[in-house]
Amino acid sequence: MTTSDPGTDQRVFRPTVLDLGDVLLRPWGRALDVPGGIAPALTAAAADPAVARWSPLSAAGPVVVDTYLGRCEEHWAAGTAASFAVIDAADGSLCGNAYLGWTNRDDGVAMIGYWLLAAARGRGLATRATTAVTRWAVDHADVRRIELYHAVANEDSCRVATRAGFPYEGTLRGSYTYGGGVYVDEHLHARLASDPFTD
Ligand SMILES: CC(C)(COP(=O)(O)OP(=O)(O)OC[C@H]1O[C@@H](n2cnc3c(N)ncnc32)[C@H](O)[C@@H]1OP(=O)(O)O)[C@@H](O)C(=O)NCCC(=O)NCCS
Repeated sequence: MTTSDPGTDQRVFRPTVLDLGDVLLRPWGRALDVPGGIAPALTAAAADPAVARWSPLSAAGPVVVDTYLGRCEEHWAAGTAASFAVIDAADGSLCGNAYLGWTNRDDGVAMIGYWLLAAARGRGLATRATTAVTRWAVDHADVRRIELYHAVANEDSCRVATRAGFPYEGTLRGSYTYGGGVYVDEHLHARLASDPFTD
């Protein structure tokens, strides 16, 4: 196989579990076991007003849930995106999601995203999950630059980005639609593999 970048062969996301102590980051997939079943848990997450407003995960029925989980499995199998469920280590319940996928693999550029269920917010889980996935991707998949986009009005996400060490780089005008055909402005934050981790 020929590649345009000597680093590309290393640029593969391999399924793994990241243990943060009180929470585990587990690869999303149909086999993921949470109390009450993964499909109802994911459907409930998609129906959360803030997740529905700001995340690509839309309110969905079982068929779409199956499609979503299948897509996560395909990305893991291909090494193209790492989708982690944030799982409470004590009771196995679903807390949220952390996603990292290539946007330009040859250049080592990836994008990160996240959401939390309402009950899991306000205790730093999104910041910690973002930091852990970033560190893992830098250490194990030769990620060079990770970008983080959020709607300008999504101040909670802006704070996660800043706390996780992704400085603000600029505002993109009309760059993304969260549905309804309305394109909103977004903040671009990013960090480089060479940026030091402070924790
Ligand atoms: C964006 C989102 C994940 C942020 O959740 P969050 O709980 O506010 O973020 P964190 O998990 O990092 O927690 C940070 C909050 O917990 C508090 N906190 C408590 N203990 C903490 C700790 N040990 N470490 C860090 N923060 C802690 C912080 O003060 C902060 O509160 P503040 O923002 O009022 O100051 C959540 O609002 C969400 O899921 N929104 C819908 C989906 C979404 O917007 N996704 C992003 C799309 S770009």
